[in-house]
Order: sequence, then C-alpha cells, then structure tokens
Amino acid sequence: MDSAQRKPHAVCVPFPAQGHINPMLKLAKLLHHSGFHITFVHTVYNHRRLVKSNGAASLSGLPGFRFEKIHDGLPETDDADTTQDVPALCRSVLEHFITPFRELVARLSVVGAQGGGDVPPVTCIVSDIIMPFTVVVAEELSVPVVLLLTMSACGFSGSAYHHQLARRCLIPLVDESYLTNGHLDTIIDFIPGMEGIRLRDLYSFYQTTNRDDIMLRFNLEKLKLATKASAIIVNTFTPLESDVLEGLPEYLPKILPVGPLHLLLDRVPKGSPLHSIRSNLWKDESECMAWLGSRPPRSVLYVNYGSVVGVSPRQLAEFAWGLADSGHPFLWVIRPDMAAGEGEGALPGEFLKATEGRSFLASWCPQEQVIRHQSIGGFLTHCGWNSTLEALGAGVPMICWPFFADQRTNCWFACRKWGVGVELGGDVRRAEVGELVREVLGGEKGEDMRRKAAEWKRLAGEAASPSGSSSLNW
Ligand code: UDX
Repeated sequence: MDSAQRKPHAVCVPFPAQGHINPMLKLAKLLHHSGFHITFVHTVYNHRRLVKSNGAASLSGLPGFRFEKIHDGLPETDDADTTQDVPALCRSVLEHFITPFRELVARLSVVGAQGGGDVPPVTCIVSDIIMPFTVVVAEELSVPVVLLLTMSACGFSGSAYHHQLARRCLIPLVDESYLTNGHLDTIIDFIPGMEGIRLRDLYSFYQTTNRDDIMLRFNLEKLKLATKASAIIVNTFTPLESDVLEGLPEYLPKILPVGPLHLLLDRVPKGSPLHSIRSNLWKDESECMAWLGSRPPRSVLYVNYGSVVGVSPRQLAEFAWGLADSGHPFLWVIRPDMAAGEGEGALPGEFLKATEGRSFLASWCPQEQVIRHQSIGGFLTHCGWNSTLEALGAGVPMICWPFFADQRTNCWFACRKWGVGVELGGDVRRAEVGELVREVLGGEKGEDMRRKAAEWKRLAGEAASPSGSSSLNW
C-alpha cells in the first residue's frame, strides 16, 4: 500500500442547503488538514450552482479531496438559482437519497478495495445529523458514522425533547386555535439549561396540528438514527452552551463540541489550497469590503437574513424605511430570490435616494469577512446558527429577527442568556427597526451588548485555540 492508500477516508455528507454545506466543508477541510482523504458529496442541483457562483476550479478538488454528486430526487430545474423548499428536501431525504448514496459508497469501496489508486477504502462517514439515511448505509458497510450538528446545542435540545413534549400533550397542537390561545406561551421547565423558555421559542416545526407532518416525522427519524452513531460533533463551544450540552437526553451518543469551526479553520495556513475550495451558492459581491473600508470603526449595521428566509414586500418596505430613519450607515444583503422573487427590485422607489451615500446593497456577500470587519457595529440577523456563531466569534451585537427551525431558540439565548441580542417583533414595524438600530449602534444597551459580545469573542477564540476545549475534542 502506498501512503495515499493508508490514509483514513471520510465521506462527508451535508444537508443540501447553504447553512449546512458551510460548516460541513469547514469540518472536511480540517479533517483533510489532519491527514484524512475526503470525499465530499453535493447534490447535482447544488453542484451546478456552486460551479456557477465560484468557478469550476473551486470544485475540481485537490489531491486527497474529491467531490462527488448525487441526485436529490426533486424535479429537475436546470437554471434555477433559488433555495429549495425545505420540507420538500426533507421528504426527499427520507425517501430518495439512500439509493444514490448507497451506490456511491459501494463504488468508492470497490475502487478503494482494488488499491493502487489514490482513493483509499472508506473508513468512516461524516454526515449531517439531518441526513439520517447515512447511518443505515454505514451499518451495511460496517464503518462508523459520526454526525455533525450544524445547529446550536440549544436549538437541537428543543428538538431532542420531542418525545417528552408529546407525552405532555404539548405537541402536536390540538387544533388551529392553539396557535393563538396562549398555548405557545406555555413555559417549558424540563429541558436542562433552558428553564423558562416558551413552547413558541422551541423548534418551529412543532407548531403544527398534523400528527403526520413531514417535519415531525423527519425530526423523529433523525433522533432514532442518531442513537446509532459513534458520536455527535457540534459546531459550538462549551462555555457558551455548557448547561444545555450536559443536559442533552441520555439516549444520544457521545456529544463533542468542536466549534466555532470557522475559527478552528484559521489554523490552516493562509496559503493552503484548501482555502480555494468554496461553498457559496450565490456569487459574492466582494466590492462591499472596499465600501466598509471607507467607514469609521463600529459605525455600520450589517443586515442579512441567511439563505432560506423570505420576506414579504411589505416587510421589506418596513425594513427599508426603518433603516433609512435610523440615520446610520448599513450594508444590506437582499438575495435575488427574496421578497417574492423580486430581490432588490421590491424596494420602495424613494428609498435609495433617501439613503444615498450611507447604504450599500448586495445580493450576497463574503459574510465571514464582513462580520469581522472593524466598521461593523451591529448585525440585524435571522439568527441562523452560522450567522449567530460568526457574530459571537467577532464580538458583534445582534438585532434578532428569527424566522424558523432553531432560530427562535437562538434568539431567546442571544437576548436572555448571552446578553448580545435584542429582538425585533415578527411583523416588522419601521419605527421599531429604527429605534433598535439606534440603540445597538449608539445607545447604552448597545454598549453593554458589545461588551458581552467581546467576552464571547474571547471565549470562542480560547475554545478554538490549540489547547482550547474545542481543539481537545478533536
Ligand atoms: C439554515 C437555518 O436557517 C438555520 O437556522 C440553521 O441553523 C442552519 O441552516 P441559513 O438560514 O442559511 O441556515 O442561516 P445561517 O445558519 O446563518 O447560514 C448562512 C451561511 O451563509 C453563513 O455561514 C453565512 O456566513 C453565509 N452567508 C450568508 C454568506 O456567506 N453570505 C451571505 O450574504 C449570507
């Protein structure tokens, strides 16, 4: 056997959405850096978008870092450039993915077993926890599977106590009236580390009256198969979520916090070709970096709702006038598939004139760089876990406008426990937007949040340092 053949070979399988591909790619790079051969599995749909956004070179691979693609089972939409429907993807994960994945792993195993080439035998599967079919294939192949949790431990904990919530008849909802009759305000006091949280702040997919709801089924399947994994690695750091991490249900396998992954990745040397592998599903508009460079420190509000959230044209207009009235400069990312597919086109006509000279609009940006830029003073965010972790890692306070999945839980923790967030009401009113922006960028509360965020930044950096808690879990 030559040295390439002796390497451990990890097949890395992200859920096919931006907020999942990003942390899995970081994990894969770190594994490659520590000596693994990597096969990274995209869907055909995302592979095409990645080539379009980043160029073919970024997916041609490196020695020992290869890409493969499988079909997602959804109807073909060749030229689409939009986030796929999440429940449709989840249904497909339950019903379609296993066959092409099994075939792929079988093919890799044959190639590996033949030896002599540069693909070693598959030795483990590293899978997103919400791609549970990988556990079945790993069992068939008798290789270990390690699951990556790309959401927060607190967000996950809410979903992992599914059975207990159901036993107490808290979920599913009895009928539609339970959405408005105060039931969602029930205080949940039995999830460790989350005492005092309301039902409405847990995993958003609980808010259904349908026992057979695809997202409930999906959650149960995820939990059932997670028990068979060797470990669950979590993109978080212990000091941030220690109570919740310790209180995760005992039926789960070993839990290893290894984040923030983007800070651990800082240790891969700058010149490494690993950094040329990109994962943006939209093309970066990096011109915003020069604009940020022309702004004073901590003066700019950064506004971004991640890769899935849609806003109505009314909400977009309320955000626009709130930002305009705040008087502060802002960098606002509006994806082309947001606002009923109109993107920036849905903005009110007078708005651009009203904010000329202090606004920069983009359809996608290099967020990790943006958020670390010294001119950023606050982040208006949907509280996706990657965005939250990137803000904490950069010491940036947040205005939280959660939308779905784990985002309400992240918002609750950011505002109530970590002291780095203020919440913006769901229906968005311009006066509230303006007031919160002024508060965060110029007020006393903002100063206090900034101090707390700076402390989390320090602790995140410490956890990701070579002797820190996250590094020791590698
Ligand atoms: C989704 C869910 O919404 C979220 O709740 C869950 O925790 C993860 O999956 P998403 O909505 O895309 O993720 O949000 P987020 O988790 O914040 O991930 C977005 C990623 O895209 C981040 O890594 C962010 O840095 C990156 N991004 C976003 C960019 O690089 N540029 C942009 O303009 C916007």
